[in-house]
Amino acid sequence: MERTLIIIKPDGVQRGLVGEIIRRFEQRGLRIVGMKFMQVSRELAEQHYAIHREKPFFGSLVDYITSSPVVVMALEGTNAVQNARNTIGATRPSEATPGSIRGDFALEIGRNLVHGSDSVENGAAEIALWFKPEELIAWERHTDRWIFE
Ligand code: RTP
Ligand code: MG
Repeated sequence: MERTLIIIKPDGVQRGLVGEIIRRFEQRGLRIVGMKFMQVSRELAEQHYAIHREKPFFGSLVDYITSSPVVVMALEGTNAVQNARNTIGATRPSEATPGSIRGDFALEIGRNLVHGSDSVENGAAEIALWFKPEELIAWERHTDRWIFE
């Protein structure tokens, strides 16, 4: 089953949107396989955003994600990566459709509330970076057969 890494960024936690954001992924039908509340180290942030190292916004991106605690989740389900990104909305909140998390709660790219993996390979790699194997739980939900065909 496809997996994706979701981070509720510091603005989501500070604004009291943790429950609202988790609710949207649960409601979509994605199954939680890992979840924790944590302070991100600069080292982990720089590894996670390594692909953006040369970008002008890299420093502010690392400052942002390390500025206060986050909630990190591993979710699984059909097309988990793309379906989660649709639930999150476009990177620039001004381009995010209403009904998406960013389209409903965010205004600026540097305060866009949520991270979601951008490919199946990156989803697996990011989950391995953020979670120890024993922190991921394989389980069956009673509702699975009403969500997965
Ligand atoms: P994310 O990784 O957070 O899910 O977002 P994304 O795939 O939609 O966007 P990505 O290109 O991976 O960028 C990662 C995060 O960097 C910040 N950003 N700032 N100032 C800028 O031009 C700029 N561009 C990107 C955003 O917080 C974005 O989510
Ligand atoms: Mg990205």
